[in-house]
Amino acid sequence: MNTASISTTEMAYVDRGAGLPVLLVHGYPLDHTMWAAQIDALSGRARVIAPDLRGFGRTPLGQVDPIRGLSMEQYADDLVELLDALAIREPIVLVGFSMGGYVAWQFVRKHADRLRALVACDTRAAADTEDAREGRLKMAQHVAEWGTARVAEMMGPKLLAPQSFATKRDVVEAVRRVVEGTSPAAIAAAQRGMADRPDATDLLPKIDVPTLVIVGEHDLISTQSEMESIAQAIPGAGLAVISEAGHMAPMENPEKVNEALRRFLDAVGEDATARA
Ligand code: MLT
Repeated sequence: MNTASISTTEMAYVDRGAGLPVLLVHGYPLDHTMWAAQIDALSGRARVIAPDLRGFGRTPLGQVDPIRGLSMEQYADDLVELLDALAIREPIVLVGFSMGGYVAWQFVRKHADRLRALVACDTRAAADTEDAREGRLKMAQHVAEWGTARVAEMMGPKLLAPQSFATKRDVVEAVRRVVEGTSPAAIAAAQRGMADRPDATDLLPKIDVPTLVIVGEHDLISTQSEMESIAQAIPGAGLAVISEAGHMAPMENPEKVNEALRRFLDAVGEDATARA
C-alpha cells in the first residue's frame, strides 16, 4: 500500500495498473480489501486506485467534529485531494459501493468535472428514515462501549446472502475481521455522517456520464427494486443484477461483478475513442 498526504490525513491506497483511472470506493465499516478481486481483474486494463477512506483500514481518522462526524461530502473532497496528490487530472471512472456510493453522489454534485463514468454498486440514493437515523446515532454513541465484535454481529446477517454463510466461509470471515478491526471512532464518525447525508434522488436525472448500477440479487440493505429505481432515474444507465450475492456482491460473486465492470469499462473506452 502507498500513502499520500492530503490536508486531513495520510491516505492509504492501492494504485495498480495503467490507463483509464478507476477509483474504487469501499463501504462501511470496511476498507479497500473488499475490492481485492476487482483490483486483480481490472488492473490489467486500467489504473485501479483503491483507497481506505478516513479512519478505515490504514488511513488515520484525523480531526473529526465529534457531533457531526464525517460528512459524505468530506469523504468526496478527500478523494479529489488524493487524485490531485497522484497528479490524476483526467476524468475518472468512480465506483462507489454502499457508503462509497453515498460518497459518489456528493462527488457527482461537487466534482462533476473530474468524472468520466460512474458505477453505483449496492447503494442507495434516498436519505435515512427517522428510525434508521436514530439507530445510527445510537451506534455512534455506544460503539466504544459495545465493541466492534458486536457491530460485526449486528451487521453480518445484513451484509451477506443467507447462502453465503454456508458456502463462502472465507468471505464471511474476511468481512467479520475487517468490521471487527475498524476503530470505534471511525464507525461513530461515519455513522453520524451517514445519518445526516442528503437525499440524492433529485440528482439522479441530472447525471450525464455513462452509468452502471450493480446490485446483488439478495441485497437486504440496498434492495434490487430500490436499485432498479435508481437505474431507471439515471438517463441511459445500465443495470447488472448479480446472482448468488447479497450486499457484498463484489466479494460474494466477484466473477459476475468483474464481468459487468469489464463490459462497462470497454464501452466507456470505446465511447472515448469514438469521441476523440
Ligand atoms: C455499507 O455497506 O456501506 C453500509 O451498509 C451503508 C449503510 O449503513 O447504509
